[in-house]
Amino acid sequence: MAHIKIVEVGPRDGLQNEKQLVPLSTKLELIRRLRDAGLTTIEAGAFVSPKWVPQMADSAEVLKALDLSGPVSYPVLVPNDQGLEAALACGVKEIAVFGAASETFSQKNINASIADSLKRFESVMARAASANVRVRGYVSCVVGCPYEGKIAPQQVATVAKALYDMGCYEISLGDTIGVGTPNTVLAMLEAVSHVVPTERLAGHFHDTYGMAIANIHAAIGAGIGTFDSSVAGLGGCPYARGASGNVATEDVVYLLHGLGHETGIDLARLVDTARFISAALGREVGSRVGRALAPTE
Ligand code: HMG
Ligand code: MG
Repeated sequence: MAHIKIVEVGPRDGLQNEKQLVPLSTKLELIRRLRDAGLTTIEAGAFVSPKWVPQMADSAEVLKALDLSGPVSYPVLVPNDQGLEAALACGVKEIAVFGAASETFSQKNINASIADSLKRFESVMARAASANVRVRGYVSCVVGCPYEGKIAPQQVATVAKALYDMGCYEISLGDTIGVGTPNTVLAMLEAVSHVVPTERLAGHFHDTYGMAIANIHAAIGAGIGTFDSSVAGLGGCPYARGASGNVATEDVVYLLHGLGHETGIDLARLVDTARFISAALGREVGSRVGRALAPTE
């Protein structure tokens, strides 16, 4: 069966919404454990305004402690030229720009209209290309928006195409508030795959309504081979009311291994990592698999 790639977004999407500042040492230990569990792409931070997202303010220190030339990729979010310059100064090899299919969400999240955000990204892309940095593109609110409700698949396709045409090597489609079900997700994927090759698409599902695993299963059937997830199901976007955690990496890995797909990930070590970060944050493990595989006392 095919290899399915997992992009671990726990250190970024997982932690960005935490109210208490997570110490740098905890972030680094989390990333080390994720790497040792076999994750090869670990989104490590965000070069965004510390006034908007205080938890990501130490992203430069995180990157400086990592081996950016090794086999593991550590992308970071970048919203504009200022963020890119700061990320380049740390020697980053990969970044992600992040736009939205919803006009209101775009304003609330990055203080720009969709059209203005795409202009900003054009500039980021040009500079990134000259620095030999790979760029991934996110589209948020691909099924629904916390402010506008349902989002038409065609709106998603338009933004995804714009990001792909400007040079993003992959487009990650974010169900930011987890409202999708397989039928709405498949309708959205159908529209987007007319304008971006399916092998260039990734699924980014939040699990607010418990639908993420069903949506991933459906998306695999539609040919999607990359999924974003967050260890222990941590996560949420500070600018999306009702956006609870990302789908848990250990739940996705359990699904994929059960279906016979390869991931290169050691599930037991991953569950240990979920236990580590949950304990550090003072809460129960948020995933079904993490709870099922917890050692009995
Ligand atoms: P702005 O206020 O319009 O920016 O924010 P500005 O250009 O007017 O500058 C205002 C101040 O911000 C200035 O500082 C700048 O230096 C500073 P001051 O003079 O007031 O002291 N600034 C920056 N500082 C650090 N890094 C930067 C930067 N840019 C400006 N890059 C901005 C615009 C985009 C910066 C802001 O809206 C922002 O940072 N937004 C980020 C929001 C965010 O991180 N959201 C969560 C990530 S997206 C997500 O979770 C969804 C995803 O997971 C997919 C899904 O689930 O759908 C990806
Ligand atoms: Mg997200």
